[in-house]
Amino acid sequence: MDLRTLFRRVGLALRFIAPLTLVLALLALALVPLVESLTLRWWVTDLETRSRLVANTMQEQLVDLVQQGNGARVRQLFRRAVEDERLFALAYCNDAGQIVYRTDTYPVALGCNEIRGSGPDAHVLRQFPPAPIHVTWFPIPSNGQKIGTLVLVHDMSFVERRTADTRRYIIGFFILLGVVVSLITVFVAHLSWRGWMDGMRALLRGEGIIQPFRASANPDLQPIVDEVKALLREVDHSRRNLGRGAAWNPDMLRSVLRNELAGDEILLVSNREPYIHMRQGDSDKLAIRRPASGLVTAMEPIMRACSGTWIAHGSGTGDRAVVDRHDHILVPPDNPSYTLRRVWLSEEEERGYYYGFANEGLWPLCHIAHVRPVFRTSDWERYVEINQRFAGAVCSEARTEDPVVLVQDYHFALLPRFIHERLPKATIITFWHIPWPNPESFGICPWRARVLDGLLGSTILGFHTQYHCRNFIDTVDRYLEARIEYEASRVSYGGHRTSIEPYPISIQWPSPWADVQPAVAECRRRVIEREGFPGHVRLGIGVDRMDYTKGIIERFHAVEKLLETHPEYVGRFVFVQIAAPSRSSLDDYRIFQEEVHSLAARINARFADAAVPPIRLKAEHHEPELINEYFRAADVCIVTSLHDGMNLVAKEFVAARDDDQGVLVLSQFTGAARELHDALPVNPYHVDQCAEVLDQALRMPPDEQRVRMRSMRRLVQDYNVYRWAGAMLLDASRLRQRQRIVDRIDRHRERTVATG
Ligand code: F6P
Repeated sequence: MDLRTLFRRVGLALRFIAPLTLVLALLALALVPLVESLTLRWWVTDLETRSRLVANTMQEQLVDLVQQGNGARVRQLFRRAVEDERLFALAYCNDAGQIVYRTDTYPVALGCNEIRGSGPDAHVLRQFPPAPIHVTWFPIPSNGQKIGTLVLVHDMSFVERRTADTRRYIIGFFILLGVVVSLITVFVAHLSWRGWMDGMRALLRGEGIIQPFRASANPDLQPIVDEVKALLREVDHSRRNLGRGAAWNPDMLRSVLRNELAGDEILLVSNREPYIHMRQGDSDKLAIRRPASGLVTAMEPIMRACSGTWIAHGSGTGDRAVVDRHDHILVPPDNPSYTLRRVWLSEEEERGYYYGFANEGLWPLCHIAHVRPVFRTSDWERYVEINQRFAGAVCSEARTEDPVVLVQDYHFALLPRFIHERLPKATIITFWHIPWPNPESFGICPWRARVLDGLLGSTILGFHTQYHCRNFIDTVDRYLEARIEYEASRVSYGGHRTSIEPYPISIQWPSPWADVQPAVAECRRRVIEREGFPGHVRLGIGVDRMDYTKGIIERFHAVEKLLETHPEYVGRFVFVQIAAPSRSSLDDYRIFQEEVHSLAARINARFADAAVPPIRLKAEHHEPELINEYFRAADVCIVTSLHDGMNLVAKEFVAARDDDQGVLVLSQFTGAARELHDALPVNPYHVDQCAEVLDQALRMPPDEQRVRMRSMRRLVQDYNVYRWAGAMLLDASRLRQRQRIVDRIDRHRERTVATG
């Protein structure tokens, strides 16, 4: 124990002990004289009783001997009497007040005079050096006549001795009492302090109220508990409301980072990189491609605003050529504002981790889109390895011990745990971009407990909807021994707590092309010209990755049905499907792709006489600016996902329509349908219904389109991607604040425990 700690501890103990000692000392001071006078009184009473007893015993014999004048016998009688240790001396005085007989010990100076006139049976206590004495005298009668006085002198020094003993005992008792009470007080205070610390920690961590903070355990503490809770609520509230009502934009997000996270380091991890360098043919020329990915669409503007580091798989054929020796490259290429760190995977690793476990296992498992999930042990092993490799990359990129790490998607279910083990102070926000199924469906995964354990390494785990949060919590409840706080939406597992929260993802607002995009009429003109459509056609648009979850087949069937039931659209309505190639090395995707192509061909063949084939399938990569042009040119955008976490295409279409025109047909099985209530909802499995809704969309008057589109644009504007990221970062900052206080308490407590 160092000297400072010793002094602090002694000081703390003295705060209890000093006033206690003072009170006990005062009590002792008041009590000692009281006890002394009391005991003296008892002794004197006792001596008087004894004296009377002695006098009565001697009286008869003394009268005889005095009347006989037998001095020798009187002295002998007196000598025998003073053999009693306390009876110090005896004397017999005649009626004239002269000493007639006395023992040798009788103080002559005491004489007989002093007692004269004091009346019979009187006594006196006096200091008769060297010791205090007690004198009692008794008249000696004979035949009813007083003939003399018997004087008994008791030695009182034993009283003094016993009084001193009593004083010592009393002082000793009070010292002992002081020590015992002090020890008990310090011990109880220590226990209470620990309880308070635990209670405070629990409260700060947002746990349920625990002992001794439970009001029923100690109702006296309830007002303090209420006050602390109110204070925390206020802090939470002010953080949650930060920016509510205000327009969220990159500046706002930057100010959150600066003010709420004190400029803390931001690291983002995803499988897909935001910029892919591709070799063009055999030449050294490189083209930069922006992938068709909702994740990239959402995260890219955030990283531009945060200037952190984005760690991702370098999947482009030209990626290695452009990185520095740390595998870094600054992006975006036209205006570098953050670092992209590329992680390399071999083909075999990518096959197992990305194509295998992530896309043949977790993807169909979570989407429940009638494609069987496939789980292979070898894929799982690659998945574990690659998650570990990314954890290594995160740790090597981290400059601080407590960065904010944004883990993206189902490719990295184990990453939060691996990072947490290596950087326990990091705030890990994991966002699961796809749906989370019910416990029964998830239970199919052979490594379900490991996946759940991995995700519970996160500080915050986000899903698009409350429904997916609920599914996740139910799954944890089913397969792990974890403590679940349903109301607070928190899971405690292995001593670590994870908040499960819905954060509906969104897009950049205003659209990055808002200031430079051509007018709607011009976009339409360009599209019509590019595609060679007749000028009068009504245009439908669908933009997806070529993925079986997107409902492309169902959409084509709906278009066919529309033309079948409403032949007036034949040759007058064209549906353009942009389908970015995706995961095409997987059988399910290849088969699906073929199916899509052949269905489009069949439908087009069926309406071969039309002025224009009804389906224009564009199965190739399109850059976002071009897609924006198609959105602006279209009369209706069709999103028919069979199951989708959010679907940002729906929001991108809305963002593109600054003319307030255009109709959104939206699958009820997307997260977006829970927000965009002015879209026309469809069940993609119900082809007839979809066809009718398509007709309704194409007939919708401009005024109704305007009202609906305005309302959807307001929503996407308000709940843009900056607000989405801001909400997560504010929650992270709140938890970091709490964690810092908890750490401080823990450190203080550890110091206290260590120092005994
Ligand atoms: O929707 C899930 C998701 O991972 C998105 O995050 C992303 O937009 C999309 O799939 C892209 O998939 P991939 O990275 O496999 O091309």
